[in-house]
Amino acid sequence: MSRILIIDDELSMREMLEIFFIGEGYEVETAEDGLMGINKLSEGEFDLIITDLRMPKTHGLVVLERAQMLYPNTPVLVMTAYASTETAVKAMKMGAEDYFTKPFQLDEVKAVVAKALEKRRLILENRSLRRELNDRNRTGDMIGRSPKMQVLFKLIHRIASTKTNVLILGESGTGKELVARAIHDLSERKHKPFLVINCAAIPEQLLESELFGHKRGTFTGATHDREGLFQAAHGGSLLLDEIGEMPLSMQVKLLRVLEGRKIKIVGEHREIPVDVRVIAATNRDLKAEVKAGRFREDLFYRLNVISLELPPLRERPTDIPLLVHHFLRRYAHEFGKDLSEIEPDAMQALLGYDFSGNVRELGNIIERAVALEESGRVRRQSLPPFLQASSSVATPAPEAPALEIPEAGINLEGVVDDLERRLIGEALKRTDGHKKEAAKLLGISFRSLRYRLTKLNIEGSSDP
Ligand SMILES: Nc1ncnc2c1ncn2[C@@H]1O[C@H](COP(=O)(O)OP(=O)(O)OP(=O)(O)O)[C@@H](O)[C@H]1O
Ligand SMILES: [Mg+2]
Repeated sequence: MSRILIIDDELSMREMLEIFFIGEGYEVETAEDGLMGINKLSEGEFDLIITDLRMPKTHGLVVLERAQMLYPNTPVLVMTAYASTETAVKAMKMGAEDYFTKPFQLDEVKAVVAKALEKRRLILENRSLRRELNDRNRTGDMIGRSPKMQVLFKLIHRIASTKTNVLILGESGTGKELVARAIHDLSERKHKPFLVINCAAIPEQLLESELFGHKRGTFTGATHDREGLFQAAHGGSLLLDEIGEMPLSMQVKLLRVLEGRKIKIVGEHREIPVDVRVIAATNRDLKAEVKAGRFREDLFYRLNVISLELPPLRERPTDIPLLVHHFLRRYAHEFGKDLSEIEPDAMQALLGYDFSGNVRELGNIIERAVALEESGRVRRQSLPPFLQASSSVATPAPEAPALEIPEAGINLEGVVDDLERRLIGEALKRTDGHKKEAAKLLGISFRSLRYRLTKLNIEGSSDP
């Protein structure tokens, strides 16, 4: 619940605002002059301050100054008499959020207050997320605060210092390569090379020479001696990406290397000892591949001394806001844009999405949004079209009515009215009769709701 401090020397004004905002669901405190107001401020933080300007003892501008010093994120709204708009302008220059001249409409004040509070909420949320980006919620270049990722981070720290092979499993785009890199960077091998080979991208005939090197003249095109990745990674780590795609013939050779810690250069007879930590990654179900005869069981056990499984992003939605801010920061910097916030509506849409492409897909979505966005923060309009459809939080047409038409026929208007009546009733029930909220829930305007209430002759259709 938001706390509002109202400062005015005029009792009737204080009371009117107090009663009104309590009715709107806020927690309200009042002070009858600037000095008392400042005293209240030093007792604790408010979410919003409304202060009169001209008051005996301490002027509203002094309150404003003090409030900004103590709580720079608390918006201050100032009230002035018609005659003194000049001071109001001064207040705005000093950082007041907005002002209204007396006399005013309560609805107008209410809207300004809601807007100021929403802005504050956004700033605080962004700030806390930015802070979270910096501490324990990261390992290497990886970000995550979900319990699943926290467990993974601990595991990474624990195994980094060991020498064992590691198998990393997870859907595409979940961050397998980042994990491999983090393991390397946290190990004492960190000053030695970290090399990556994508086993799926290299033709079978070349894979062996790529991994173990070849002697000049061994095959057409081998015009030079060439060092393989195992030798190049000596002392460091080698990521065998997409290991599930490695041909069976290569699997045998790899197994021999892992067992003997020696490689045989193609076209040479002697063996060379290598010290390489092998990290393998795949988005396939490797056990199933073993069962299907496409992956050697002995190699599987060699690689799988320790296995890490990366959960898909949809199973750790609490990571989404953090990742959004991470990418926001990265791409805003890259594109030279001053963009560090995202509107709640846009965040909501992202939270409801299932990300089959995982973190990579989220990164792409934010990159696109930052490129397109021309306002100061990411709005829902800048997300891809599939994230803009009405609300991803609301499910489509709850329990659509049965679509059979009985022999005797139906009364279409009656059926539709009935459905409409039930949905409106449900929305009003859920919002405790709050019509503006109910209209929002139904995706229609307040006017439209009022019209329908009258049309359907639903109770309480007169008052707002
Ligand atoms: N936890 C994370 N924090 C920050 N960025 C992440 C995280 N996980 C993944 N990424 C980013 O998402 C993208 C995909 O990650 P990565 O390449 O490691 O995925 P992968 O599992 O290897 O995918 P694939 O199976 O398609 O190769 C990269 O740009 C990476 O930087
Ligand atoms: Mg990868």
